[in-house]
Amino acid sequence: MHDLVIKGGLVASAFGAVRCDVGIRQGRIATLGEALDGAEVLDAQGLLVLPGGVDSHCHIEEPRPGGGTTEETFASASAAAFAGGTTTTVSFIPQWRGHDVWERYVDYRARAATGMLDHAFHQIISDPTDQVLEEEVPKLVAEGVRSLKVFLTYDNVHVDDRGFIRVLETARKLGCLVTVHCENYEAIRWRTERLLAAGLTAPHYHAWSRPTVVEREATHRAIALAELVDQPIQVFHVSCGEAAEEIARAQARGLKVWGETCPQYLTITARHMEGPDGAMFMCSPAPRDEAEHANIWEAIRRGTLDVVSSDHAASSRAAKQGADFSVIPNGLPGLAARLPVLFSEGVSQGRISLEHFTRLVATNPAKLMGLYPKKGVIAPGSDADVILWDPKREVTITNALMHHAVDNTPFEGKRVTGWPVATLRRGEVVMREGEITGRPGGGQYQPRGAYEMATPRGITPQGFGA
Ligand code: URP
Ligand code: ZN
Ligand code: ZN
Repeated sequence: MHDLVIKGGLVASAFGAVRCDVGIRQGRIATLGEALDGAEVLDAQGLLVLPGGVDSHCHIEEPRPGGGTTEETFASASAAAFAGGTTTTVSFIPQWRGHDVWERYVDYRARAATGMLDHAFHQIISDPTDQVLEEEVPKLVAEGVRSLKVFLTYDNVHVDDRGFIRVLETARKLGCLVTVHCENYEAIRWRTERLLAAGLTAPHYHAWSRPTVVEREATHRAIALAELVDQPIQVFHVSCGEAAEEIARAQARGLKVWGETCPQYLTITARHMEGPDGAMFMCSPAPRDEAEHANIWEAIRRGTLDVVSSDHAASSRAAKQGADFSVIPNGLPGLAARLPVLFSEGVSQGRISLEHFTRLVATNPAKLMGLYPKKGVIAPGSDADVILWDPKREVTITNALMHHAVDNTPFEGKRVTGWPVATLRRGEVVMREGEITGRPGGGQYQPRGAYEMATPRGITPQGFGA
């Protein structure tokens, strides 16, 4: 007898799609089989049964150096995630220059506990001092924080090559993954100064300030330094074919380098930034053009890019104002739209298979973040994080459907085919037909232990330091 049985759906598990019942006991998948009995039954006839989405790149309730936080709270992010079929997030604990990290971790952990999502964290390192790397980061790893994030651009947080190498070295010693924002800080700064001096200040000049070459250069450099140190990395939010080629070359040489992209790099172009609402499409790397969308699809099909995250970074219209493009906050809200947009553009339009979709949004991020097989798969023993998905439902995306805290979505008015009708987190129905039914505080921290994908290869130049 099960607590709950999902009956009659097409279950997309790690082993392919099979029509069977899913039996859930005490929040975990107990049985995949036929004619299962349960105290409660959910009818999934005509629906897909998919693993709950794992969004391994979200900016949620990030404290700001001067006090306050970003606008999306864990409470609102949880509603957005469940509305879009995501049940687990990995979000960022900030570090600001001159600040330590331990205190931030304690604070951020308490914030996340107020939400409904199962959650893990990346630790941003922007000031890699000896104290931080040698004393505080080991304490975080003992707490289950197994990924460090570095920015190679942005005024207040970017690290130089020496700082980056020190972070790679620390991660290698402690068994963490390093995730990297790859754009060249000095190159963007130089272009920005020249653009502003020429009076080219409108939002669409954001794309001019950071053309693909600055992403390609930083991607190449990040990979080269990771190879030098022998440290696994994931390149975040790849937006162009040139950067994907750098990753493909590294993978062909056997390096532990993975690449992520986001729905905005498959659907939004630099032209969106030319309209009156231009600022609402500003993110970094910048949106490109249709040719780059095709390049990113090709990199997904080949497996070069194997994770599609949202890079959810939400700002209200009021916050996305500024005298010129360089002072307008970057980032787009995408937590709720990630699965519907990718399913529609990918599966419904025949670009990728259903199994590939589940790998991109759930199984692969869970594996790369050390959360698998607890998360990211429908299999006996895994957490019962499940989406009931209607592959035929046509929906026009509106901001109200996104459930996030802000008053805009870059996907407003987009027609999609395929939509989540219910989301279960550890066996509890937390969203049904757009209504959020989860309880505040119901999410659980997911500490991560050592795992193979974050383990170095043991190959260094001259064998020194291996
Ligand atoms: O524009 C973006 N992507 N904002 C969020 C921060 C980041 O770079 O990931
Ligand atoms: Zn970034
Ligand atoms: Zn980001």
